[in-house]
Amino acid sequence: MIGRLNHVGIATPSIERSVAVYRDLLGATAVGERFALPEQGVWVCFVDTPNSQIELIEPYGDASPIHAFLARNPNGGQHHVCFEVSDIVAARDALRAKGATILGTGEPRLGAHGVPVIFVHPRDMGGVLVELMAEPGH
Ligand code: CO
Repeated sequence: MIGRLNHVGIATPSIERSVAVYRDLLGATAVGERFALPEQGVWVCFVDTPNSQIELIEPYGDASPIHAFLARNPNGGQHHVCFEVSDIVAARDALRAKGATILGTGEPRLGAHGVPVIFVHPRDMGGVLVELMAEPGH
């Protein structure tokens, strides 16, 4: 089931400040535009690395799920990792059959790459919030 590591999600109180960190300390040059995903309550900005991406996420709106994370981690921090899967519904069903909890309704919803995603509860994944996304182009 598990495919390519697509990105690492980093929550931040300021995408602008985080972009500066990746640019100034690590020399990142491929930085996308910041855009909003209102239905998920986040601003998003991708920083490209040679083999993956960093997904910077900042709260959007008062109901953003990122507020609680930032309350515990005021400077931001690693929020989730995202792996590609060839069939998102089959992956969800297989995880459920093995007793894992899919967050929310469990119905795949459009993620930041414009393809369906689901999130697996951290308690089933050794404390790591795991996002699974359909392979782009499928
Ligand atoms: Co993500």
